[in-house]
Amino acid sequence: MPITIQKLTDTIGAEIGGVDLTRPVDDETVNVLKSALDDYSVLVFRDQAFDNDSQIAFSQRFGALENMLYKKEGDGGTPISNITNVDMDTNEIFPPGHHRLTGNSGNEMWHTDSSFKPVPAYCSMLSGREVPPEGADTQFATCRAAYESLPESEQRQLDGLVAEHNYAYSRSKVKGYSPPAEAIAQVPPVQHAVVRTNPGNGRKNYYTGAHASHIIGWPLEKGRHLLEELVVRATRPEFVYAHQWQPLDFVIWDNRCVLHRATAFDSAKYRRVMRRTTVAGIGPTVSETGEALAVA
Ligand SMILES: [Fe+2]
Repeated sequence: MPITIQKLTDTIGAEIGGVDLTRPVDDETVNVLKSALDDYSVLVFRDQAFDNDSQIAFSQRFGALENMLYKKEGDGGTPISNITNVDMDTNEIFPPGHHRLTGNSGNEMWHTDSSFKPVPAYCSMLSGREVPPEGADTQFATCRAAYESLPESEQRQLDGLVAEHNYAYSRSKVKGYSPPAEAIAQVPPVQHAVVRTNPGNGRKNYYTGAHASHIIGWPLEKGRHLLEELVVRATRPEFVYAHQWQPLDFVIWDNRCVLHRATAFDSAKYRRVMRRTTVAGIGPTVSETGEALAVA
C-alpha cells in the first residue's frame, strides 16, 4: 500500500497513511517520511500500536536518540520518557498537587524540546497509549510560516542574532515547581542561532520558545521581549495545528522549526499515558566563536 500524505492546514501538519511504523521500515520509507517532515513540520499517524521497544526501534531510524533528563523519575527509562498523570508503580492517577503533575504543567508553555542543550533536538515522537476523551490537545505552531510572514526588513534584523536558552530560566516560570538540582546541573545555559535554515529545503525559520531567555549582546529585557513577540506571532491561529488525540495516534514534529505546548485536561478524572522519544540534532547552531551558523 502506498504512503499517503494529506495536508492538515495551509501552513503546518500532514496526516500520513498507508504505513505501519511498529514493524521494521525500509530506507525508502524513512526517506519519504524525513522529507515529509521537512515539508510539513508535523506528521500525524493513526493506529500505531507501539510498545516501548518498537517505538525506540522506529525512532532510531531517524538518528541517535537523546537521553531524557529525568531518567530517574521518568518510569519509561531512557531513551523513552513517560509523560503521564499515572503512577506506574501503583497504576493510580497521581493525587492533585503531586510534583509530577506540577512538572508536567511546564509543558503548557510554548516551547521546543531540548533547546536548552548544546545540540538541540531534531524531532520528537509522541505515542498516545492512553488518552483522555476530552482536552489534552497538543498544539503546534510553525516558526517557518511566521518567519516568512515578516517583512524582509524584520527578517534581516533577526539574521545573525544569537539567543541564550536556559532550562533553569524556563522552569523558574512554572509556579510551585523546583526541578531537581541534579537536572539543572546537567544543562547549563547554551547559545543558539535565532534564525535557522532547513538543510533539506533551504527554508528559514526563527527559533524561540520558553527556554529562550535573551539575546546575546542586547539588554536582557529588550531581547526577552523580542523572543516573546516572536512566540506571539508564531502562535496566531493561522500558524497553529491543534492535535486532538485518539488512542494509538503517533505524532512526529520538527523541533528545529516548530513550537508546541500541551493543553489542560481533567487530570483527576482521566488517565493520560504518552511515551516520547527524541531524535538528537546533527550539531550546534552556533560556531565555536559564538556566531550563528547559516545552516543548522
Ligand atoms: Fe515538549
